[in-house]
Amino acid sequence: MVGTGAYREQYRRSLDDPEAFWLEAARAIEWTRPPTVALDSSGAPLYRWFPDGELNTAINALDRHVDSGRGEQNALLWDSPVTGSTARYTYTELRDSVATLAGALRSLGVGKGDRVVIYLPMVPEAVMAMLACARLGAVHSVVFGGFAPKELAARISDAEPKVVLTASCGVEPSRVVEYVPIVREALDLVHDAGARRPDHVVVLQRDTARAELRDGELDWNDLVATASPADPVPVAATDPLYVLYTSGTTGKPKGVVRDNGGHAVALAWSLPAVYDIGPGDVWWTASDVGWVVGHSYIVYAPLLVGATTVLYEGKPVGTPDAGAFWRVASQYGVKALFTAPTALRAVKRVDPEGTQIARYDLGRLRTLFLAGERLDPQTYHWASERLGIPVIDHWWQTETGWPVAANPRGIEPLPVKPGSATVPMPGWDVRVLGQSGREQPMGKEGALAVKLPLPPGSLPTLWGDDERFVESYLSRYEGYYLTGDSGYVDDDGYLFVMGRTDDVINVAGHRLSTGAMEAVLAAHPAVAECAVIGVHDALKGQLPRGFVVLKAGADIPEDQLTEELVAAVRAEIGPVAAFRDVSVVDALPKTRSGKILRSTMRGIADGRDVPVPSTIEDPDVLERLRTILRPSR
Ligand code: COA
Ligand code: AMP
Repeated sequence: MVGTGAYREQYRRSLDDPEAFWLEAARAIEWTRPPTVALDSSGAPLYRWFPDGELNTAINALDRHVDSGRGEQNALLWDSPVTGSTARYTYTELRDSVATLAGALRSLGVGKGDRVVIYLPMVPEAVMAMLACARLGAVHSVVFGGFAPKELAARISDAEPKVVLTASCGVEPSRVVEYVPIVREALDLVHDAGARRPDHVVVLQRDTARAELRDGELDWNDLVATASPADPVPVAATDPLYVLYTSGTTGKPKGVVRDNGGHAVALAWSLPAVYDIGPGDVWWTASDVGWVVGHSYIVYAPLLVGATTVLYEGKPVGTPDAGAFWRVASQYGVKALFTAPTALRAVKRVDPEGTQIARYDLGRLRTLFLAGERLDPQTYHWASERLGIPVIDHWWQTETGWPVAANPRGIEPLPVKPGSATVPMPGWDVRVLGQSGREQPMGKEGALAVKLPLPPGSLPTLWGDDERFVESYLSRYEGYYLTGDSGYVDDDGYLFVMGRTDDVINVAGHRLSTGAMEAVLAAHPAVAECAVIGVHDALKGQLPRGFVVLKAGADIPEDQLTEELVAAVRAEIGPVAAFRDVSVVDALPKTRSGKILRSTMRGIADGRDVPVPSTIEDPDVLERLRTILRPSR
């Protein structure tokens, strides 16, 4: 077994005595009422951490660092090649901006427990907005800018925010994305659905494209200019800090809840332990605040530990070139960078020799962390050879909030095995289970599950829906959380995550539901039935591919149908779905009970040698599909 030293000791302690382990970790947090108990199991299988603790997350992220003498240290460095701007905020400046924005929200009636939807690009105000909510004890729900109005509407309808915070625009390399029309359309959809509309929409005007505001829409700067700072509001550790919607297998996104106490403890523990980042270090997560990676490691973790976080509004390539990451890392003296493998593949495609790397002084860059999808060994080798630093794959999910498996660089750096996310982190009792729920022997693939209770920082439930939480995650194997991923553990105890077992796909590090895309295709008048599967893509990891069967008598040229379906997915889900590939087929392969054999289709499309299920209704249908599905196509 690997890690006979500090890692193994901490891992064992976390599972043998979670109470002591996490109460000790909780000392890193400033509480208005320190917890005396770590875990409340009374509602099992729903667990709550630090039931009698009380704190404010924003105090921990900002005020306490100012109070302890870090006020002049940079908290946030913003670099925006798409607008040609930069900005920096010290801890004092960020605390003051957050307090004033919190005052502005309070003047709109936002208080403890109220929701605020944040639909903003990668600007400092996005970070401020999240922390301003935390300061008030309000619950933020950030929606990624690449989602279309319908997806935004689904989130607004579910979260029922009092206020929506948005901007006049986001800037993509190829176009300016005007956010206000998207928000208006979303609010119309919310209204049509009979759901509660927010009381206010606040718009941050950006010079790239200013918005003409209508009645009821407020100008961010005007609002803040007249606001007085709000004091932090202590909340129960178990009170929600945020809701982040993520794709499940159905079209309805899941509102992953994060509490205040467990989240603060887990993130403050993870940054030094997993990433070897502490107070004063410069840390950069090149992701988006709309994803969990952005919540945890752009915003909360670095600020909770008193580090400096870089916020980057740009792409790995094309803004302006494939040296962008190395330029930012060198310019700000970044100690560790965290991004998605797809971003590196994009860099590698443009600059295969890594000539851009040599242009910059990366002397302070110690580690590259990658997550969001499996780190393929080619990308791993390319990055580690070109950069000459450890390249660390690690595995986690929106639901888990922080890494389930990683290489604990700050506890005990373990040897890297390409293709493996290394080992489970303290608190995560990861098991590989077979169909019957029995544990798989070493080396054998199975469902990755985590024995309950999950550690602090993981989701306590889904927003307003304990039942769906239990049904989606806790009912497949009693006493376990089902991750939805499959994988195996090798003889050394290293974990290999192989892919999803459900209909969730991962496109350029963006988690999407094929079920949601199928719902869009099925709504087309010419489509009788359809299937969308994720197929391997050399750049984005996976891309969605649609298969449609036409209604009898449907008379539409295939090109036109494809165009209409592609446009519909873009309009209803968003450009991030990158849905471009549709095939018209005469039938879909099904079981005798009528279930479409998506996983068989996926296997063939990925070039795997998948057996034909014995339950298949008509094997000829699958045979005809093979030629269309095969990767050589
Ligand atoms: N707002 C509006 N539109 C957005 C958007 C946003 N925040 N983010 C992406 N989009 C749009 C893009 O403009 C693009 O639109 P297009 O079809 O008109 O060109 C589409 O969504 C797809 O975008 P993207 O997934 O970014 O693909 P790309 O081909 O533009 O770039 C990569 C490819 C690999 C460079 C890019 O996906 C990337 O940087 N990925 C890293 C992902 C990441 O950080 N994931 C978080 C998990 S760690
Ligand atoms: P998200 O909730 O958007 O973070 O996506 C989580 C999913 O991304 C996981 O369930 C995995 O399928 C996938 N994923 C994330 N990190 C990794 C990794 N290091 N290796 C393999 N898959 C990963």
